[in-house]
Amino acid sequence: MRQRKVWGEAPQLWLLLLLASVSCTLWASVTARTGPSHDKVVVCYISTWAVYRPEQGAYAIDNFDPNLCTHVVYAFAGLDITQASIKSLAANNVICQVYNVQTRSGYLDYLHIMCYAYHGSWDQKVGYNSPLAAPAEDPFSVKFTIDYLLKLGAPPSKLVLGLPFYGRTFKTVSEGNLNDGSDGVGFRGPYTREDGFLGYNEICNVLSNKTSGWTKQWDPQTSQVLARSERNVFTQDVSVVTFDSSRSIANKVLYAMSKRLAGVMVWSVDTDDFLGNCELDGDTFEDFKVVSSAPRRLSQSYPLLRTINEATVLALEQLAVPEPVPDDSENEIPHGSIADRKNAAASIVSLSLTATALFMLLHSLAH
Ligand SMILES: *[C@@H]1O[C@H](CO)[C@@H](O)[C@H](O)[C@H]1NC(C)=O
Repeated sequence: MRQRKVWGEAPQLWLLLLLASVSCTLWASVTARTGPSHDKVVVCYISTWAVYRPEQGAYAIDNFDPNLCTHVVYAFAGLDITQASIKSLAANNVICQVYNVQTRSGYLDYLHIMCYAYHGSWDQKVGYNSPLAAPAEDPFSVKFTIDYLLKLGAPPSKLVLGLPFYGRTFKTVSEGNLNDGSDGVGFRGPYTREDGFLGYNEICNVLSNKTSGWTKQWDPQTSQVLARSERNVFTQDVSVVTFDSSRSIANKVLYAMSKRLAGVMVWSVDTDDFLGNCELDGDTFEDFKVVSSAPRRLSQSYPLLRTINEATVLALEQLAVPEPVPDDSENEIPHGSIADRKNAAASIVSLSLTATALFMLLHSLAH
């Protein structure tokens, strides 16, 4: 009854859910046959508008690799999943006031936690998009958010940690260091064409280009990368982007596994280097304790998504996490084992739907 009431507050959700269900059904029949070799959740968001990006940025259905995801959510432009509005969800008072985490999570299969857009061009200074941990003077971080939700009573087995496959951009007349004042707009990439935002594919293309003049710097505290251009001789600006490299992603997966979360979700697979154009990072598992050898890859494509699946396996090995006891609480849709997943296209649809609904609910509440 209460669940009904919640959705009833935003009746337009039903139409969107219906649309979502059509595409989820299509995807589920694909996912059902394959999938990662671990039993954690890897939720892949695809933005429908990615198909309209120019040249090598265009992401068609054919580019999707169902082996790398357990769930797929096809995100419609109508859902207003713009990066700017995601920011408001990071506000703790939103989670706290309108959203009784412990009660609500009983009705939901998974909660997708959008752990990004902590900082961006709107701050008018250079900051990290998605810091794993953060210094005391600016404590907002992935760990802060997850710890906060756990403290509010969210069951870890339902939390899905959101990972960004994109970075935030800044323009500054300073040196291009953290906290340098910036112009409030940033710059745009050739494919995603949105000020303040660069897809990982756009970032790694520039960093793989030996003559581009870009350099990068790893920050161990936040597990973020800051990359900067040479100073533009005409404008005198330095361009800066802060983003998640494969090492950042690996460390966040390790963190999610150490907290025994359900898994991770990705915003969004269409800005991974899905064509495999970039040089692979050599430091991906640098912060893992026991990696006998770097996992061998069959393909150079999807470096971040492949990192997620490899890091999940390695992290579970490292942590030696025992299988979680199945939770038979009410309203639970069976999920968990790989065998279940392969035979349960229908529940994949339901799970994605529930998650989509939550995503939209959070949005409607946040505005
Ligand atoms: C590499 O960067 C240089 C300098 O910005 C540019 O002229 C060139 O087109 C780039 N090459 C590729 C393959 O993008």
